[in-house]
Amino acid sequence: MNVRKHLLSPWAKPLLMLLLALPALWLLYAAINDMLGANPAEALTRRTGDWTLRGLCVVLAVSPLRVISATPALQRFRRILGVATFTYGCLHMLCYAWFDQGLAIDDIARDILKRPFIWLGFGGLVCMLPLALTSFNAAIRWLSPQRWQLLHRLVYAVAVLAVLHFFWMRAGKNNFAEVWVYAAILGGLMVWRVVHWRRHAQQS
Ligand code: HEM
Repeated sequence: MNVRKHLLSPWAKPLLMLLLALPALWLLYAAINDMLGANPAEALTRRTGDWTLRGLCVVLAVSPLRVISATPALQRFRRILGVATFTYGCLHMLCYAWFDQGLAIDDIARDILKRPFIWLGFGGLVCMLPLALTSFNAAIRWLSPQRWQLLHRLVYAVAVLAVLHFFWMRAGKNNFAEVWVYAAILGGLMVWRVVHWRRHAQQS
């Protein structure tokens, strides 16, 4: 099977979008059918947070995979993956705002300022916003590709804030096993980039 040929097929992007919608559709189905355990609101907030973090790992893995496997076609999926990750981040924030704070703006603002793990997560989502807003072609032309690339380095700040948010949340429960897994994946992907940039700089 020629995987590279399938990556260029016109069906590849719609198929990926469907795949990326599946966790949200599953969560909706599970919520409607009372399959989310004793505290469905908490489960929805946590599961959407997990998918945001997983999405971030996948977005950051695209470039290393593209270079290591010599498959430039992978690049065409980065935007969809980024927008899907941002969408899961917004759903996560919506679950928190709705189930934890009853959509009361004053209470949300007070809580963001009061609890460090909340402002770390909020900081991560705020850093994702300019990336999502400039994810279309006209924005890249308007910004110039160089400035766009510079702006998109914000994704590293998002990764750091997301891991700190998760770490702080789990600190109360002294349960860090998953935090270390995500920190190792995101840290490894960032180290790969630094090594790649340095090699590139030495060659040019
Ligand atoms: C980059 C953006 C974000 C990422 C990657 C992220 C990720 C996560 C993860 C992985 C969890 C833990 C899930 C688990 O225990 O399995 C979590 C929990 C949580 N997040 Fe976020 N988050 C983000 C932004 C936000 C924002 C903007 C808010 C609200 C302002 C928020 C509020 C919460 C809350 C309240 C919980 C804990 C739920 C509980 O205690 O049950 N997060 N988040």
